[in-house]
Amino acid sequence: MNIETTFVDATIVDNVKNALRANTKLIWIESPTNPLLKVIDIKAISAIIQKHEDILLVVDNTFLTSYFQRPLELGADIVLYSITKYLNGHSDVIMGSIATNNKEAFDKLKFLQNASGIIPSPFDCYLVNRSLKTLAVRMREHMKNSLKVALFLENHPLVVKVLHPGV
Ligand SMILES: Cc1ncc(COP(=O)(O)O)c(C=O)c1O
Repeated sequence: MNIETTFVDATIVDNVKNALRANTKLIWIESPTNPLLKVIDIKAISAIIQKHEDILLVVDNTFLTSYFQRPLELGADIVLYSITKYLNGHSDVIMGSIATNNKEAFDKLKFLQNASGIIPSPFDCYLVNRSLKTLAVRMREHMKNSLKVALFLENHPLVVKVLHPGV
């Protein structure tokens, strides 16, 4: 599709800044990243492109979900989710979603969705709707449990390194 890409470690904001080119249309980040759980400063990256109205910032917010992190409020234009993971949380659906507050991007994506027919089934939507009712409870427990495990492992003599944004 004639799309050029530049891969950088976005935990260092200057790497992103230095990677911008005349033909840059989109910055795509994921935070925390899968699987290394690196955390990226969404607000700082959004600030870099504040004067570039033609560059969109896309954030994959799959791991924290909207319960813990709201990228649109931090300057992102588009937020992407693999609903398959925490948003659904019951391992019985494969689905994705995009949220945007950018009308132009919305219209283009809505056209593509309609034109290519990439819509989920009513039954899968029903399952995700069921899941979202317990999102808050599940995310709080995931955080509590994973932090406890991470802190335990961090102090374990046989463990070299623990990857968890909370530690
Ligand atoms: C952060 C993140 N985004 C997106 C995806 C893709 O998810 P799916 O398999 O639901 O398309 C994954 C899958 O591992 C992921 O970890």
